[in-house]
Amino acid sequence: MASSSTSSSVKLMLLMPVLVSSLIVATVGNLNQDFDITWGDGRANILNNGKLLTLKLDKASGSGFQSKNEYLFGKIDMQLKLVPGNSAGTVTAYYLSSKGSTWDEIDFEFLGNLSGDPYILHTNVFSQGKGNREQQFYLWFDPTADFHTYSILWNPQRIIYSVDGTPIREFKNSESIGVPFPKNQPMRIYSSLWNADDWATRGGLVKTDWSQAPFTASYRNFKADACTWSSGASSCSSTTPSSSSNSSSWLSQELDSASQERLKWVQKNYMIYNYCSDTKRFPQGLPPECSA
Ligand SMILES: *[C@@H]1O[C@H](CO)[C@@H](O)[C@H](O)[C@H]1NC(C)=O
Ligand SMILES: *[C@@H]1O[C@H](CO)[C@@H](O)[C@H](O)[C@H]1NC(C)=O
Repeated sequence: MASSSTSSSVKLMLLMPVLVSSLIVATVGNLNQDFDITWGDGRANILNNGKLLTLKLDKASGSGFQSKNEYLFGKIDMQLKLVPGNSAGTVTAYYLSSKGSTWDEIDFEFLGNLSGDPYILHTNVFSQGKGNREQQFYLWFDPTADFHTYSILWNPQRIIYSVDGTPIREFKNSESIGVPFPKNQPMRIYSSLWNADDWATRGGLVKTDWSQAPFTASYRNFKADACTWSSGASSCSSTTPSSSSNSSSWLSQELDSASQERLKWVQKNYMIYNYCSDTKRFPQGLPPECSA
């Protein structure tokens, strides 16, 4: 008993800075209202009255959660603080996905590393069950030192991935040249923390150091300006244009010229893999959207 109350007061002290800084943000919702813990047998927890969610991974299991809502288009922000220290072998996945064999999916995956070595932010877009559209990045900050905002803007014309408001990737609707675009299947948000030391860090060379377990990733300040889907209908189509305020301008948002410059800056300085440059991988020609 004594030792467990000691450890919970230590935990409380560790959480204090998180609590204080989240009180400053006015827009925080309650993560209990938006998400269900789906697996991990107690390793995933929603804390601080719904303001913080943590996933843990130990040798026996990882953990995960999913959104209660399904979405069909939206601007979705989440703040994540990734596994600190030696996170080699761990993967924190945060993504949108529909169901079925011809599913759509929009992925963020964070591949851990040895202390001080850079995480890789891995992205991919699946449409109609087909992916192979990876782009990978280093980040311009330490993603384990604090929370940072990872956003997906998904509208009928484009998908834009952003980090702290800086766009890192744009996937445009190229249906006009025969590339399916995710626009008919509602998606749920999923996230999990799991062991992938067979491939995650330096291609699997660096294994998870279980003496560092449990590993913890943290989430807060979820915000979705989105069309939710329920019983076959979108919350957006039921809203008359006059009552849908300018807050849904994300539905037609595109990158302005300043954002395009930021995107180029990231791609020039931080992109470490782009399927559209991998001619060896696609000997019969790069995918059509690469030249769109
Ligand atoms: C880990 O660090 C090594 C050495 O700096 C680097 O090559 C690699 O891209 C980093 N990230 C991952 C996930 O392997
Ligand atoms: C949206 O904003 C524009 C000007 O910024 C305004 O003219 C228009 O009436 C607004 N639309 C709605 C639905 O509020």
